[in-house]
Formats: sequence, structure tokens, C-alpha cells
Amino acid sequence: MIENRLQLIIPADRIQQRVAEMGAQISSDYPEAEPLLLAGVLKGAWVFLADLARAISRPVTIDFLHTSSYGEGNTSSGEAKLVRDLDTSIEGMHVLLVEDIVDTGVTLDYLMRVLSQRRPRSLAIASFLDKPSRRQRQVDIRYRGFEVPNQFVVGYGLDFAGSYRNLPDLCAIREE
Ligand code: IMP
Repeated sequence: MIENRLQLIIPADRIQQRVAEMGAQISSDYPEAEPLLLAGVLKGAWVFLADLARAISRPVTIDFLHTSSYGEGNTSSGEAKLVRDLDTSIEGMHVLLVEDIVDTGVTLDYLMRVLSQRRPRSLAIASFLDKPSRRQRQVDIRYRGFEVPNQFVVGYGLDFAGSYRNLPDLCAIREE
């Protein structure tokens, strides 16, 4: 049951279908003998990462990092910072940054700059959602689940004030 302030944008079965396609594409793009690390950006990417990892049919390792934006509110203030780093070295590894949504692009622009200095074998982005209308920094998204319009969306890992991450569907929320 979806509450009044939520509007269904992408149903769970369509999400699962798209994530399966992305997993198949990633499985065929990376040589099986070469190590692939899925680096999930907390907190929003945890649901997408869990499903994407199981849709990938080759070995992967998994780690997490956590960023926050400077300032208050749900939108980026223009700068990101790392509040939890990866546990492992990425030197010589293929690294796929797994994110929930690319909005302004500030977070991933920052993470790509930080991680590329650590000499990974390759570094690319898989994002569940892309909201290009608000972009401030150019970000190259190699694997993109869905493009969304300029609405605040929740569910499938994405939150509003900490809630709604467990919704299986993606919904738009009216902010009151
Ligand atoms: P950025 O603006 O691309 O740096 O995105 C920063 C973060 O803002 C994302 O990782 C999300 O956690 C959050 N965010 C941006 N748009 C939305 C949205 O529509 N719903 C929920 N979170 C969002």
C-alpha cells in the first residue's frame, strides 16, 4: 500500500528486469580472470548493490564507502567529503562504483577523482538512476538503470529524511 504523498514511478518488477540486464552486461564486459570490486556508495546504494551483485555471474568482491555533502538538506551543497573509506586497496583492480542516483554529479565527480589516484586497473560507474536535469559536474555513467525527471524520488534504497529505503518500487514524493 503506497501512501498518499507517494506516486509510483517504476514498479519493482521493472526494476528487477533492468537490474538483471545490467548484471548480464557487466558480466560480459569484464574478463572473468581479472578481479572486479563493486564499491557501493552508502547509504542509498545498498539495495541496488545487493541485487546487482547477484545478477553478475562472475566473481566479484564488495566494499563500501560513505560520503556526505557539506551543508544541510537533501541536495548537495557543491562539495562532497569521504566519511568512511574502502577497507581494501584498489590498486590493479577493476573498480565499479555503485551508486543510487547521480543528481548534481558532485559526489561521483569527487569519488572518481579520489579513487583514480589509487591506480585501479579501471574505474567506472554503475548508477541505478540518472537525474541529468540538475547536473553541475560532468560524470560518465557507464551503466545506467533509468533516467528520472527532476522529482525527488524514494524507495529501492533511496530515502527522504531516512525513511522509505525499504520500498520495493521507486516513487516520487511530494515534499510538504
Ligand atoms: P549528487 O547531487 O549527484 O552529488 O547526489 C548526492 C546524493 O543525493 C545521492 O547519492 C543521493 O543520496 C541524494 N539524492 C539526490 N537526488 C535524490 C532523490 O531524488 N532522492 C533521494 N536521494 C537523492
